Amino acid sequence: MMGLVFNIAQDVVEATFGPDVWDAVIETAGVDGAYTMLAAYPDDEFESLVRAASGVIGISQTDVLVMVGRRGFGALLERHADALAGRPDWRTLLAGLDGEIHRDARKVYPEGELPRLDLRPAPDGAVAIVYRSRRRWCDLAEGLVLGVGDWYDVSLETRHVSCRRHGDELCVLEVRER
Ligand code: HEM
Repeated sequence: MMGLVFNIAQDVVEATFGPDVWDAVIETAGVDGAYTMLAAYPDDEFESLVRAASGVIGISQTDVLVMVGRRGFGALLERHADALAGRPDWRTLLAGLDGEIHRDARKVYPEGELPRLDLRPAPDGAVAIVYRSRRRWCDLAEGLVLGVGDWYDVSLETRHVSCRRHGDELCVLEVRER
């Protein structure tokens, strides 16, 4: 996992709970906590941090991932404002995610292993995102999508229609405007 994602998790925890809480998370996870945006680190290390944050903050690991995604979307844009160019609303941003935004990210982060995020139309004007990644961090994807809604100032509702972590074959996230 690229240092970028670790940097964003740190930004979110520090901005929300303060630097001492991030220090406690690092200590509990037993890691040194120094991450460079363009370097890759073991996925296990990120998972240890999520587990530690869950214990230190007192919320579930799912809630940690959703929070990091949701509050971290702004921190991600601080580093990649170009992702917004020509995307005036949440639908155009999500539509450009797999074929354009993550495709371009592959060039900047050659060591990155980007998830596949295929969009399909869903009932009542909703969009279904099919998330494919060996990491099974669909909760992070859900948080990022909610962060997209916050960014464009629309209230988005997400629903895990099916999830590999619960034994389904595919992970599908439905997104609709409230
Ligand atoms: C709604 C917006 C977005 C969603 C839902 C999304 C989803 C995700 C998820 C879930 C991951 C974790 C890796 C995995 O699950 O396998 C990830 C990683 C990543 N994403 Fe995105 N992303 C979004 C926007 C962006 C943007 C704007 C960029 C800008 C360049 C970006 C670049 C990256 C990079 C570099 C990684 C790290 C890959 C790695 O470490 O191997 N993403 N993304």
